[in-house]
Amino acid sequence: MSTGFGVEIVATVNKLQDVFSAVGSSAAQIDLPQICVLGSQSSGKSSVLENIVGRDFLPRGSGIVTRRPLVLQLIHRPATAPTTNGVVAGGPAADPRINDNEWGEFLHLPNEKFYDFNKIRAEIVRDTEAKTGRNAGISPHPINLRIFSPNVLTLTLVDLPGLTKVPVGDQPKDIEKQIRDMLFKYISKAACIILAVTPANTDLANSDGLKMAREVDPEGTRTIGVLTKVDLMDSGTDVVDILAGRVIPLRLGYVPVVNRGQRDIDTSKPIQQALEAERQFFENHPAYQGKAQYCGTPFLARKLNMILMHHIRATLPDIKARITSQLQKYNAELQSLGGPLGDGNSSSIVLSIITEFTNEFRTVIDGNTNDLSLNE
Ligand code: GDP
Ligand code: NA
Ligand code: MG
Repeated sequence: MSTGFGVEIVATVNKLQDVFSAVGSSAAQIDLPQICVLGSQSSGKSSVLENIVGRDFLPRGSGIVTRRPLVLQLIHRPATAPTTNGVVAGGPAADPRINDNEWGEFLHLPNEKFYDFNKIRAEIVRDTEAKTGRNAGISPHPINLRIFSPNVLTLTLVDLPGLTKVPVGDQPKDIEKQIRDMLFKYISKAACIILAVTPANTDLANSDGLKMAREVDPEGTRTIGVLTKVDLMDSGTDVVDILAGRVIPLRLGYVPVVNRGQRDIDTSKPIQQALEAERQFFENHPAYQGKAQYCGTPFLARKLNMILMHHIRATLPDIKARITSQLQKYNAELQSLGGPLGDGNSSSIVLSIITEFTNEFRTVIDGNTNDLSLNE
């Protein structure tokens, strides 16, 4: 999982959280926002999330595939096992997609570790069918999946069913309302960053995702527009006007992406190959050539990084204040018990470590945001 979030932010946030856990303080937590996808059915939501994570594991396809919310917790965990690509004595041959340090666990299957991401996808499909039937039924009951990896930022992503109007299969008559209610529960939270997904080959003015995002985030402070299927636009048309904010302006702007098409899914095109094809698409397309660095999944991931970093920077002073007051309380207690064993130095050491990391974090932020304004 190396394509998604920048190495620097992963390293820095994880270091900070290490310091906090060394301090042993629950008051010192960086609550990272959740990232949710919002859009019509088959607009490409699952594909976008998968590309951001950089691993194949979500069910995707042309029908209503995502039928329950999937709450995906990425959990940073330092590499421990040597990487042997999943080879065990007497087991299957080396599979380059399998890495001993990266695995998934489902809440509903405690103690079972999934090293094979294809099996993770199969389990999502199996449990979806078990709870909703095979015939297009939906359920607000989430699937909880944790992915442990040395290469991820501890962060929660939520894949959601798409907005739909006409019931199919076993869906109830009020399917539209049921799905909207389900989505509102996630996107109303102030800490939710909304990826409002709209296929570029449809009319932006009719985008259900954008309309709904505006209902919960009228100022547009936490909504990023994502334009999928740019490769499927009629020739001679492009999203340049949308990117320039001349159609429906969004404060955080839009990012055009090219995900794998249905044929790529059918032929199991590897994600790295798809990301390379996406890069070439934007670099070679006459409409996007000059702005290719603002297009595609890597730019979307950087944009998300930037939002996360602003969030963390805003949170740090408060965390520092909470730690300071905890330490003062702790020292006072020690005094009342006859004074600390040492000279009280331990608390100032902790504070200086936190200050050091805060400064380091600022440096990382400034280095990353110089070329990436919020309103580009
Ligand atoms: P979701 O229902 O919104 O989660 O959409 P999926 O990610 O399941 O994708 C729906 C269908 O659209 C699949 O067949 C994908 O292959 C296809 N698709 C998604 N994004 C793109 C894209 O950027 N280009 C092309 N050509 N197809 C895409
Ligand atoms: Na779909
Ligand atoms: Mg989906």
